Amino acid sequence: MLAASPILKAQLDPFREHNRIPKLDELITALDFEPVFHAKLPRQVYNYTAYGVDGEFTLRRNRQAFDWVDLVPNVISHAATPATATELFGTKMAYPILVSPTAAHVALHPEGEAATRQGTTAASNTPMIVSNVASLPIEKIGAAATGPFWFQLYAKEDPELNRETLDRAQAAGCRAVVVTIDQQASAYEREMHDRNLTPASGRRGSTREVKPRTPYRIRDFRLFQDWKLFAELRKMVKVPLLAKGIVTAEDALLCLEHGLDGVYVSNHGGRSLDYGPSTLEVLPEIVDAVKGRVPVLFDSGVRRGSDVLKALALGASAVCLGRVPRWGLGAYGAPGVQRVLEIMQAELVQAMAATGCPSLAAIDRSLVRTDFP
Ligand code: FNR
Ligand code: LAC
Repeated sequence: MLAASPILKAQLDPFREHNRIPKLDELITALDFEPVFHAKLPRQVYNYTAYGVDGEFTLRRNRQAFDWVDLVPNVISHAATPATATELFGTKMAYPILVSPTAAHVALHPEGEAATRQGTTAASNTPMIVSNVASLPIEKIGAAATGPFWFQLYAKEDPELNRETLDRAQAAGCRAVVVTIDQQASAYEREMHDRNLTPASGRRGSTREVKPRTPYRIRDFRLFQDWKLFAELRKMVKVPLLAKGIVTAEDALLCLEHGLDGVYVSNHGGRSLDYGPSTLEVLPEIVDAVKGRVPVLFDSGVRRGSDVLKALALGASAVCLGRVPRWGLGAYGAPGVQRVLEIMQAELVQAMAATGCPSLAAIDRSLVRTDFP
């Protein structure tokens, strides 16, 4: 009887059945990585990745928007092997997919951004945009693998204070610089409700207690930003320069007016302004304003290959993934990043085949029917 006791069994067996972590090849979609990420990481680290600003309306809307776009197939079209190769600023890419800049990867995995870069490189050289608030020095991230990478900047008010950061990123080999202009002020309610837990970007296992961030915090170190900043940064950046966080046609046109080489449509994955629109809803008007003069990158809410296809159909040149590769990294390290990207790539090919698109060039607005409210 004692031998059959579930309590005793649980004490002897630390790997209780409901805690079993699936093997990497058991995961079928990118969304499958999320519960593994949740199971493996401390709660505050999980929350930092998961949450959006305020009541998370925009976070939810980023996902909902994909439900409001139908795919209109053109099935008899000889799309035997859809071709996905493309080029962005002279970099050849096997798929129109990049990794968005996200902060502090060491909190997700001890090898941090080095592992992310190994995983992105292994996934057919997917370009990785390295965050300005990465956990490792840019030189180390640059040297960790051979695939292409870009650099994301949070600009400092005194233009000169950006020079060293930009010099180092370019010396390390970044092929483009993305300046993030959203997230001027934000507060995460879920974080504040977890205020006695350890810091989000702290080392794994840290038990240090921190004060909660102020609920009404204004990141005044970004309120200075205006478009003149780009004239100063332009002098320091030899590679293509883009602004990230564009959600209106007006701002897209300002990007062109101020000499930027691309427009990066993003609402920071719902982490910047709550009750702002989903990026998918504003993408068409931005694409119409840009008129093909520069590439239009897109992120916020992309979880499936069909999501990538919908964004391409509405005019994006390429699509970036924020949380998806973080789930891969936290759950399985570099192989997880590689696998989750390969799933997204394979799903894109599958969605192209199912809708009868033999190439990226064949993807246009006739492929979708939008029903945005
Ligand atoms: C981000 N994002 C972000 N953006 C940026 O320019 N610099 C950064 O350091 C970060 N850090 C960051 C951390 C975390 C945890 C998240 C979830 C996001 C925003 C990111 O680049 C991208 O815009 C969104 O993640 C896209 O939305 P999805 O793909 O996560 O839905
Ligand atoms: C964030 C900041 C780092 O989204 O961009 O957490």
